[in-house]
Amino acid sequence: MTVEPRIGDVFGEMLRDALAVATGIGPRPLAGGRLPRPVIEIIERDDGLINGAPAAHYLDGPADWQPYDHRAVDRVEGATLDVGVGAGRIALLLQERGVPVTGLDTSAGALAVCRRRGVRELVHGTVDSHAADGRRYDTFLLLGNNVGLLEGRERAPALLAALAALARPGARVIAQGTDPYGTRDPLHTGYHERNRRRGRLGGQLRLRLRYRELGTEWFDYLVCSPDELAELVRGTAWRLTDVDDHDAPYYLATLRLAG
Ligand SMILES: C[S@@+](CC[C@H](N)C(=O)[O-])C[C@H]1O[C@@H](n2cnc3c(N)ncnc32)[C@H](O)[C@@H]1O
Repeated sequence: MTVEPRIGDVFGEMLRDALAVATGIGPRPLAGGRLPRPVIEIIERDDGLINGAPAAHYLDGPADWQPYDHRAVDRVEGATLDVGVGAGRIALLLQERGVPVTGLDTSAGALAVCRRRGVRELVHGTVDSHAADGRRYDTFLLLGNNVGLLEGRERAPALLAALAALARPGARVIAQGTDPYGTRDPLHTGYHERNRRRGRLGGQLRLRLRYRELGTEWFDYLVCSPDELAELVRGTAWRLTDVDDHDAPYYLATLRLAG
């Protein structure tokens, strides 16, 4: 008999263990009861594809970042909301630079890791729930591929509206994405086609994350081209003012609040 994973805070537990392995502090999963087991993020796609990626990079300091991460933080101005802060790698550097930064995440465990690493301002929730808190920001960060949080045509307008509700005049969103359409791998091109036939954007991934015995519910995570992003932004309170694709297929998109 196969058992479905127990629904839980996959991201939080994974980051807690990745931090324990990196620091040698606290209980951590051991291989053969002795050696630290590498902490792997397991990503399942709804066509059966399963990928694993080491979770340690969520803790990386600036020396190990991709060039576009550095360009993203250099664009930050004013009060900043790091949306999907993860283990706080970006927020920590901004704090060091004296930027007033708040990390927001739906994972209580991720926020606990941020706190232990020294991130001072943290909010548990979504941008929608935070919009009611009365806080306002000049910059919103969606880094580590978090363009994905736009999910697709249905969710994107609501997420962009919630960000606009939290925005000061002239605010900007700096979002990192990946153009998925350079691949010739039939596994991916076939998935994109199947999505389009179902009225979805090609790179609108249907995923769930697994860690040890835990799983998330299935959710949509968007991997889209800059052109598709422009289409999603059209008609919202935001204007797509810049796409930096120096590290293509990875890109940094800047949105500015209209008016
Ligand atoms: C791919 S990780 C990126 C982490 C971080 N931005 C980085 O660059 O290292 C995605 C993060 O977004 C969080 N997240 C997922 N859905 C969210 C939502 N709807 N609102 C806020 N955070 C969310 C996850 O818990 C996770 O910490």
